[in-house]
Amino acid sequence: MPTPEDPGKDARDPQRRAVSRKSVLKAAALAGVTPLLVGGGAALARDRSAASGATLDPTPACDDGDAPTIPQTEGPYFKPNSPQRTSLVLPGTPGVPLTVSGFVFGRSCLPVAGALLDFWQADVNGAYDNAGYGFRGHQFTDARGAFTLRTVVPGLYPGRTRHIHVKAQAPGGRVLTTQLYFPGEPRNATDAIFDARLLMNVRQSGPGREGTFDFVLDVDQGGPSPSPTGSQPPAGAWTPGRTYRAGDRVSYGGAAYSCLQAHLATVGWEPPATPALWRRV
Ligand SMILES: [Fe+2]
Repeated sequence: MPTPEDPGKDARDPQRRAVSRKSVLKAAALAGVTPLLVGGGAALARDRSAASGATLDPTPACDDGDAPTIPQTEGPYFKPNSPQRTSLVLPGTPGVPLTVSGFVFGRSCLPVAGALLDFWQADVNGAYDNAGYGFRGHQFTDARGAFTLRTVVPGLYPGRTRHIHVKAQAPGGRVLTTQLYFPGEPRNATDAIFDARLLMNVRQSGPGREGTFDFVLDVDQGGPSPSPTGSQPPAGAWTPGRTYRAGDRVSYGGAAYSCLQAHLATVGWEPPATPALWRRV
């Protein structure tokens, strides 16, 4: 294993040179280290050894095949207005406990903070809750671009392999609708929608399972970040199809609302119905 004290050995180690910026940023985030930006590239956690006089490794290029996460069909069971929550289970909820965690990245392999992730899935019996919001919930990535979902392993239903639905959206970005899959499922071989690029890494953890998946959203991270305060509030009524930024103000139903989270307005996500996105002012 290369060490920071031996940068020459690092440079000769093809395995080390092949490390992706994404994976190192992920490691930095997991370690609680805030990646720094230097010269348009990421100053990685391991580069911090430069402060003590060691030679810097070249910044790995973002060429590790991290194409944006592919879209998939929404299916018939999506419902807007899901509650904001990271856990879809209560004590005693039947099923094998499952934690899904990971990061959301942009095209430049930098983490996306405040990304909206809206999950929905079948219960242990393979049934969707179309009357209520069972096994439905949305959340936002933290400052490191990280998310964690607590749920149970979804049950099977006719015609499909095991999967979790998700909509992912960077602040101000377009919605990616896709699905996540489980390795080792016999039906993966026969489900026409299944795509191996959407397989989670899943391991057993005590009585439950832990899955990981990193989303890569098709967002340009090369330019300056948009103002988080939204200094140019659009006048007028809330309008589906319009992109709103945090701080934007709209009117709806005779009331005024302030945008809490940049997003693309969608029918069904009207301000009174989405307290995670809009606050009445
Ligand atoms: Fe489904």
